[in-house]
Amino acid sequence: MTGNPSLRFAEHRNPNPTPPEARQAILADPGFGRYFTDHMVSATWTRDEGWHDAKLEPYGPLTLDPAAAVLHYGQEIFEGLKAYRHADGSVWGFRTEANGERFMHSARRLALPAFPVEDFLASIDLLVRTDLAWVPSGEETSLYLRPFMFASEPFLGVRPAAEIRYLLIACPVGSYFAGGVKPVSIWLSTAYTRAARGGTGAAKCGGNYAASLAAQLEASAHGCQQVCFLDAVDRHWVEELGGMNLYFVRRDGRLVTPELTGTILEGVTRSSVLELAKELGFDVEERRVGIDEWRDGVGSGEIAEVFACGTAAVITPVGCLRWDGGELAMGDGGAGEVTMRLRQALVDIQYGRAADAHGWMRRLA
Ligand code: COI
Repeated sequence: MTGNPSLRFAEHRNPNPTPPEARQAILADPGFGRYFTDHMVSATWTRDEGWHDAKLEPYGPLTLDPAAAVLHYGQEIFEGLKAYRHADGSVWGFRTEANGERFMHSARRLALPAFPVEDFLASIDLLVRTDLAWVPSGEETSLYLRPFMFASEPFLGVRPAAEIRYLLIACPVGSYFAGGVKPVSIWLSTAYTRAARGGTGAAKCGGNYAASLAAQLEASAHGCQQVCFLDAVDRHWVEELGGMNLYFVRRDGRLVTPELTGTILEGVTRSSVLELAKELGFDVEERRVGIDEWRDGVGSGEIAEVFACGTAAVITPVGCLRWDGGELAMGDGGAGEVTMRLRQALVDIQYGRAADAHGWMRRLA
């Protein structure tokens, strides 16, 4: 449970908000991560004062000293969550507390100050209420919320910064992948790994994503949309994609997802799928999955479907796996039946079309 927020947010409204017609044009085709709402929330932390100067303000560029530590040493974390508009016009967040708790966990790993979950939630409530008109209502659209925290102290010594900024921005979004819910192709990276034990793999920090980009380029060069990383020690165990977790659907009805070893991000969608799948009657296993098990299982038909999941990608079918010297289609390469059933169960809860038996939804406005 969370307590009361400790921060008071001053409110400075944008004197020049986006005109309604321009906003409507954006909401009709938002894409992903391209357009931002009229406001943002910010707060500053210093070693002496703790968190202070919390405010809602017009969305706009930041002024940052060129020596700000984040620009040199990458002391930064972020979160990704969504607000959904229901048919009656109300707006709801999905497991917002879980994101707040993960933000705390990531902060610890990156030696950033704790940002209390109740303040995290209060900042979300404030921004969503203020920019309510930016929450789209089209099918499978939502308002993507991006809280982040970074070292703003101008200092080039390598140590945890003594001045930190928290920011929350929001953008209306449709599908993460251009083309909607279509199976994605995955490149198996053998040249690169994403994370090693004791590293930052379980934290949501920008550095993990920066480190995935060279592999992502390799994926694109091989005609793939996403990259899959293996573990850094044996180079054998399937970890995750650049920004999504993986699930394997076995023909015998078992669902398998790589266990959390400290090198994989604990996805909120990943854990929601674990629960929903059990309720739909599947046996769910969290354990290590070798690349041979994936390839052989698909080859023999033991693995019938594979899907990726994450807040941005929701549940996205995997159509094919490609590697240096080979390629394998998952089933017929189309969207699998179990994948789409789980997807429907999840989005029905998020959009208020199915009962929220878990208490996952929180009304924001
Ligand atoms: C999310 O799913 O929200 C993420 O943060 C992943 C990112 C690739 C968009």
